[in-house]
Amino acid sequence: MAFTFFFRDKQTLDLIQEHVVPIMKSRRFIRIWDAGCAYGPEPYSLAILIREKMGQFLFRNVNILASDLNNNFGKIISDGIYNKEEIGRIPENILNIYFSPVQHKPNYFVISDEMRKSVEFFNHDLISFKPPRTGFCLIICKNVLLHFKPEDQVKVIQMFYDSLEQGGYFVSEQTQKMPDELSSKFERVVSNAQLFKKI
Ligand SMILES: C[S@@+](CC[C@H](N)C(=O)[O-])C[C@H]1O[C@@H](n2cnc3c(N)ncnc32)[C@H](O)[C@@H]1O
Repeated sequence: MAFTFFFRDKQTLDLIQEHVVPIMKSRRFIRIWDAGCAYGPEPYSLAILIREKMGQFLFRNVNILASDLNNNFGKIISDGIYNKEEIGRIPENILNIYFSPVQHKPNYFVISDEMRKSVEFFNHDLISFKPPRTGFCLIICKNVLLHFKPEDQVKVIQMFYDSLEQGGYFVSEQTQKMPDELSSKFERVVSNAQLFKKI
């Protein structure tokens, strides 16, 4: 099973909430791509933080395409069921709003229908260098690129650039630096996270 957890790198998620969500609010369609999403904690954490900032009405416009090479993650994400250990890091106030116990299955919790409807899984290989669609306002790709050769990292980030709308945002993990070849295409938004805006 891929290593991931709910609210991983909360600092970066908070910066998305602060800098990107206010821009999203003006969009009719809010398309987000979580590339290398594993079995769901990352796209669902993002969905929860966006919903918290945006409110119920505008959140209906949010569609998070969550992709991974491993197709088995699709069922876990669509079921939205996680055990007690997996949800252990979620703050209690958030847990009480977005999760409820699964009937007849002790220690398992299901995420709300509203969250499940906002996240759609698809099976995708980033090394195909073909985006699933264009017009994303945010692409998140964390703890995936480090496994790729430097030249493939450049090609994948170029693909992200091409599939972002003008002024769209790209975010990766703290340690993933923007390759020199692409640095003129993105503006760094904050100094304490790898959050970039398409120029
Ligand atoms: C360490 S997990 C990161 C999960 C999540 N992004 C996070 O940061 O918590 C890496 C994920 O990348 C996926 N992955 C690896 N190679 C990939 C590829 N070529 N295309 C798409 N996903 C890939 C793995 O299946 C795994 O789910």
